[in-house]
Amino acid sequence: MFIQWDDGYLVGHTLIDFDHQMLINITNELFSRVDNGFTQEEISQTISCLNDYVNRHFEREESLFIDSEYPDTQEHIKTHREISKTVANISALYKQDPNAINIHEVLEFLRDWLTKHILRADQQYAPYIGVTVPSRRGASCQAHKHAS
Ligand SMILES: [Fe+2]
Ligand SMILES: [Fe+2]
Repeated sequence: MFIQWDDGYLVGHTLIDFDHQMLINITNELFSRVDNGFTQEEISQTISCLNDYVNRHFEREESLFIDSEYPDTQEHIKTHREISKTVANISALYKQDPNAINIHEVLEFLRDWLTKHILRADQQYAPYIGVTVPSRRGASCQAHKHAS
């Protein structure tokens, strides 16, 4: 497994925690496709899927904290825009010319972003949307099922 889910990633909001697991699952699927020699078309589909999910997730997340007292709202949104632009560029570039992209570097970037952003930035807004970190319920069940 490329990225292992960890309960330490929990934000405490069911939808957001589900989204984060999905983002990790899609990235793991991408890794697995690359590792198992899937076609460039199949790899491209997973990158597009990730791109769509990233944008939907950011919208959901921002709608939760935008009207709250969370002091880093603008900074957080700025980070989202940067990530979203990078993922969109990767997706477009890969579609255009898969050989122009180092897919292993892309995977490292995704792993780094997912684990760091969820671990640090996303947990900062939790108290402002009325949830408590960490919540160690629910989300771990799915991860354990997958691991077995
Ligand atoms: Fe975020
Ligand atoms: Fe997030």
